[in-house]
Amino acid sequence: MPLQIVRNDITKIKCDAIVNAANSSLLGGGGVDGAIHKAAGKGLLLECIKLGGCKVGQAKITGAYKLPCRYVIHTVGPKWKGGENGEKEALESCYREGLKLAAENDCESVAFPLISSGVYGYPKARALKVAVDIITEFLIDHDMLVYIVIFDKDSFEIGEKLFNNIASYIDNKYVDDNFEFNRTWADNMGESKILTTAAILYPGIEKSDEALAPAFDTGSLKDEVDNIDESFSQMLLRKIDEKGITDSACYKKANVDRKLFSKIRGDIYYHPSKATALAFAIALELSLEETEELLLKAGFALSHSSKFDIIIEYFITHKNYNIFEINEALFAFDQALLGS
Ligand code: APR
Repeated sequence: MPLQIVRNDITKIKCDAIVNAANSSLLGGGGVDGAIHKAAGKGLLLECIKLGGCKVGQAKITGAYKLPCRYVIHTVGPKWKGGENGEKEALESCYREGLKLAAENDCESVAFPLISSGVYGYPKARALKVAVDIITEFLIDHDMLVYIVIFDKDSFEIGEKLFNNIASYIDNKYVDDNFEFNRTWADNMGESKILTTAAILYPGIEKSDEALAPAFDTGSLKDEVDNIDESFSQMLLRKIDEKGITDSACYKKANVDRKLFSKIRGDIYYHPSKATALAFAIALELSLEETEELLLKAGFALSHSSKFDIIIEYFITHKNYNIFEINEALFAFDQALLGS
């Protein structure tokens, strides 16, 4: 996934370059600036002194010294003054200039903190949106792994109403791990899905198998069985055509890198990870039924013993395919993020 939102201390991230949210002097400070200088050691400060400072929205590059990376890219974010003083444009420039320097120095991976969202007071959710938008725009034409490193939980502000709605949706749907297969599950899933699940998850299972016999009573199962021959890759490409979008528009929106998409396109029996299959379902804005079908072809099913799956199901059921909002919700419920 080219853009990954991770919770970590940026000084621990092993990548080609980490970005420092510095001040114009470049002589260190608190927050992430202080953490980076402390972890890098005094060599970093000695090099920064020679740089002669940096303007807001600009970026400069140095070595990384004791940090587990090759470079530190220093940029100076805007101080938040209410949002009417060019703060957004200056913050966008920090990400653009930082990415440009990373590309110019052949970095294959770079990690950003949420610039300006600490001491400089930029509202965290807005700061994250700027970061996601500018990085996503850059990744359309560049192959690079970009991390947005979230240090503290309040970086995602999910509205209380949405939080409560999702919490009650989880309560209604969540079943604990030792949930046994039973008719209720079959009814909820739709019997026709049992065969597809079984045949993919347990290759070689026979239609005559008594556990599945009831599922064969329903007429709809015939086209399901016919359809079972369509692989994940074939269904994905069919859906891309049906939606009238290009391959690249789809895999970019799914935050899947070009190489992985080429593998899926080139091998009709390729089985992606569940996260990748779900990311494509969201990018294609599939219904819950279509999402379950696509997942099954990759050998997976949405599980009601997984809060992650239930939250994804919530957003699909409510036809909200905004990966940013889905990630905010996943983060609020301490779940891994889509695209991470
Ligand atoms: N790893 C990742 N992120 C971190 C870390 C860390 N070790 N420490 C802090 N952060 C996060 C903060 O939680 C915040 O979300 O980095 C974001 C940016 O916060 P600041 O470091 O305060 O930077 P900024 O808001 O851009 O203010 C810059 O603060 O530290 C001084 O010298 C710096 O004067 C400059 C000003």
